[in-house]
Amino acid sequence: LNFVCLSNDGVDDHMVWLIGLKNIFARQLPNMPKEYIVRLVMDRSHKSVMVIRRNHVVGGITYRPYVNQKFGEIAFCAITADEQVKGYGTRLMNHLKQFARDEDGLTHFLTYADNNAVGYFIKQGFTKEIHLDKDRWQGYIKDYDGGVLMECKIDPKLPYTD
Ligand code: ACO
Repeated sequence: LNFVCLSNDGVDDHMVWLIGLKNIFARQLPNMPKEYIVRLVMDRSHKSVMVIRRNHVVGGITYRPYVNQKFGEIAFCAITADEQVKGYGTRLMNHLKQFARDEDGLTHFLTYADNNAVGYFIKQGFTKEIHLDKDRWQGYIKDYDGGVLMECKIDPKLPYTD
């Protein structure tokens, strides 16, 4: 099992994985327009952390790091249907936190969580209370009706992965 963090950098293998991830999002997030998913997953200002098993994508998280604001916005998060509730989602989030802190210098994540995924995000340390100063994120993340805004603080020192 492998966890990678990459963006659309033109490398063939990376393209194949990003397309696989896009397909998982399209299936698991049926309320999201497919063109919107493709656009963000392929957008070079977004990054994706993916779970790779035997060279196939099992799931991932696409996020946009706002490096100057030190927070990241999680756009999409999903694990393929037959691999859910096996712990991959938790390990994925831990790798995301580690990458975002160590590579992008981020201190927080924000996301609009689907109502049915709020329980998952709470287990990953997210809260519905937003502690981050509004002037650090207002105007950066797009308002989105179909979900609840949630926040997670990234611990500055904790080893999230082994
Ligand atoms: N509601 C409540 N609890 C959940 C949910 C849920 N929808 N999904 C998982 N959990 C719990 C698990 O029971 C587990 O609890 P435990 O640690 O007490 O056993 C814990 O959260 C972690 O479970 P994992 O096995 O690590 O999670 P999984 O690999 O299934 O990944 C995910 C979770 C990503 C939500 C997955 O189920 C999925 O792809 N769901 C469909 C798509 C989706 O809803 N994505 C999020 C949309 S919001 C957004 O993208 C910004």
